[in-house]
Amino acid sequence: MAKAVVEGAKNVGKVDVELSYFVEAEDLGQFDAILVGTPTYHHDVPIDIKTLFEEASARGINLKGKTGAAFGSYGWSGEAPKLVMEIMKNKFDMNVTEPPLLTKYVPDQSTLEQCRALGKRISESLMR
Ligand SMILES: Cc1cc2nc3c(=O)[nH]c(=O)nc-3n(C[C@H](O)[C@H](O)[C@H](O)COP(=O)(O)O)c2cc1C
Repeated sequence: MAKAVVEGAKNVGKVDVELSYFVEAEDLGQFDAILVGTPTYHHDVPIDIKTLFEEASARGINLKGKTGAAFGSYGWSGEAPKLVMEIMKNKFDMNVTEPPLLTKYVPDQSTLEQCRALGKRISESLMR
């Protein structure tokens, strides 16, 4: 899903796109948009992603006004992307307008197309 989001986000104007499996909290401040892909485990967000936002908060990283979105694969409840978006919106005052993009287990072609469309929309929104 993340690779498809990146495919969609690339080649839109002069937007630089980075796909990372690990990000330091300090580095979050350099991005205009942050799109988090997260599975749901035990009705929750994986600890690595929580820790990332905890550290960003503890270190006073300012994410206000940056674009945020979240997507992910799940099995039966799929809370994690919504929870990440709530952290982005309520804790960091980020600009979160997209609904969470969810898929059950393995994304099919139609979901991957939705991922590309999400990436493209976000990049286009940054060009305005
Ligand atoms: C230990 C464990 C706990 C899980 N808990 C949940 C859950 O609470 N809700 C849910 O929707 N899916 C749950 N799942 C299913 C995963 O979200 C699903 O398999 C997802 O596709 C995992 O994505 P990943 O392979 O990218 O980590 C769980 C899976 C495992 C192995």
